[in-house]
Amino acid sequence: MNSIDSISKTFQEKFHRQPLIFIAPGRINLIGEHTDYNEGFVMPASIDKHMVFAIAPNGNSRCNIFAQDLEEGVTFSVQDAVPGETWVNYLMGVLDAFERRGLPVGGVDCVFGGNIPAGAGLSSSAALCSGFGFALNEIFNAKATLLDLARIAQYSEHEFAGLKCGIMDMYASLFGQKEQALLLDCRSNTHELLPVQLKGYSLLLIDTKVKHTLASSAYNDRRASCEEGVRIIRKQYPQVHSLRDVTRVMLYEHQDQLGEDTFIKCLFIVEEIERTQKAGEWLKKGDLRSFGNLMYETHWGLSQAYEVSCEELDFLVALAEEEKDQIIGARMMGGGFGGCTINLIATDRIGAFSEKIKANYFATFKKEPDFYPVNIAEGVHQLKD
Ligand code: GLA
Repeated sequence: MNSIDSISKTFQEKFHRQPLIFIAPGRINLIGEHTDYNEGFVMPASIDKHMVFAIAPNGNSRCNIFAQDLEEGVTFSVQDAVPGETWVNYLMGVLDAFERRGLPVGGVDCVFGGNIPAGAGLSSSAALCSGFGFALNEIFNAKATLLDLARIAQYSEHEFAGLKCGIMDMYASLFGQKEQALLLDCRSNTHELLPVQLKGYSLLLIDTKVKHTLASSAYNDRRASCEEGVRIIRKQYPQVHSLRDVTRVMLYEHQDQLGEDTFIKCLFIVEEIERTQKAGEWLKKGDLRSFGNLMYETHWGLSQAYEVSCEELDFLVALAEEEKDQIIGARMMGGGFGGCTINLIATDRIGAFSEKIKANYFATFKKEPDFYPVNIAEGVHQLKD
């Protein structure tokens, strides 16, 4: 039985009626890392790994939720909403955001689960919040737009899970389209759809299985360094609101005031914003090799300048780079400190390369990596028959 049927069945057994079914995908990011909270560009896409929600209104104000994969159930209403780092807090955050925005919302019965590996950097939490928000919006006819729902999901991450993330993950889950990447401008929060034609290449994620416990505080620190850079440069250039407005010239002018660390971090972001726009041009021209070269550049920038990589991620990218004629692009993906690399690899090389990685990775780190071939799939939607 696939996950949709089994989640729907669990719902019927627990709540004795037919649910509505919603699908919320995880995301990859082709390029443009740590640029979203700097009002820059990113290039994510929603994928064929998703959360499934079987859900229906229950006529009172309580939410009865069952997480099928964890076999955990919980009941809460909006008054119970508290911050924390479990799946329950994320959902509470979404409900709280509806209430604060004055959107009509009521209690629901819900069973959810899916196949997005948690902690691998595929944004399972964004899928959770986006999918739940989308479902509430449909059920209670709250008339929130997709962008409102992205902001609601982001509010939950910020205020309930304590990660001061940008908007990329939830935006990608909500706006994604089959076989298209989103060139998302995180200043205007609008996107251009770019067809992804892989022509004999595939997207392969390799999971380091590393979960860095300090990842969210390190992430918030990076964000603070960027804000500090803006604060200093703004004194001379009041028109600067974010690193999106900052040029290399401005950075070099302020090199001493910024201090070495902030300077290097801000320079990486300014370059990454440019690189992402350039990558968009290569994708439009169908030049995957030039696109892939930029992925490698991004990786080493994230590793050496922005310092959000780790030994395991660098190891995987270095092995890919040894076979650059076949693995034409590779880099760490997402916030960093663990999670996956994304590889643009000749499809017929996947088997042999995976074997090579498995052996070498195990010999070095005594851990088995995981491999996820991914396709770009439709964003959050209701399944209708
Ligand atoms: C995490 C955050 C995103 C983004 C990436 C880095 O996935 O949730 O908002 O900042 O890291 O690009």
